[in-house]
Amino acid sequence: MKIVTVMGSPRLTGNTGTILKAFERGAAQTHEVERINLIDYNYSGCLGCDTCQEVSDVPGCGLEDDGTAIIRSILAADLVVYATPVYIWSFPAGMKALMERHFALVKSRLPGAPSLIAGKLVMLLVTCKGTAIESADLVLETFKREMDYLDCTTVGRYVVDSTTSPNELGERRKDTAQMMLHDLAANPAWIALSRG
Ligand SMILES: Cc1cc2nc3c(=O)[nH]c(=O)nc-3n(C[C@H](O)[C@H](O)[C@H](O)COP(=O)(O)O)c2cc1C
Repeated sequence: MKIVTVMGSPRLTGNTGTILKAFERGAAQTHEVERINLIDYNYSGCLGCDTCQEVSDVPGCGLEDDGTAIIRSILAADLVVYATPVYIWSFPAGMKALMERHFALVKSRLPGAPSLIAGKLVMLLVTCKGTAIESADLVLETFKREMDYLDCTTVGRYVVDSTTSPNELGERRKDTAQMMLHDLAANPAWIALSRG
């Protein structure tokens, strides 16, 4: 199975990256894993031009930047893991811009607003310095609504809060990665996909 991880922190070896790497190592034992570090891509948020709504079977975004390649990788994945720190109670700008670019995947002018990634399996990993309830609540809710809009299937959402430095994550690094791998293996949609 193809797993695409989308890394939203500009700090590649920070808290989010450290946990994500532990997950990727475990997943790579049996699956193909591709990492997208958003910091390496040059793209903007949605312009609201609605060019994408003039076509029904492809994203058709009017912007000619690296966002097209990111969306192509997401479309090709069986599972997409979005990994992000909390910035100002929200997503960092790069992750927010990518969420906006997902707009091209739902054809809202057509009856039933078909989604080009309907049924796609997704996970969310969040890290934050404050408590989960006070700091990550808006990110969790935004992600839930966005994935509902896209008609994706959420396998799990994980928050690692009260972060200081990657070294001080201690057992939480391995435990969170294990939890993600466990939930993935136990998900009925994933099991069905694995059986072909
Ligand atoms: C610009 C900026 C804004 C932040 N805003 C918040 C916030 O609103 N709430 C919070 O709990 N932590 C906030 N943090 C802390 C990070 O979410 C936290 O340290 C996170 O684990 C960093 O992940 P990273 O090491 O992968 O970049 C912020 C950090 C930065 C740099």
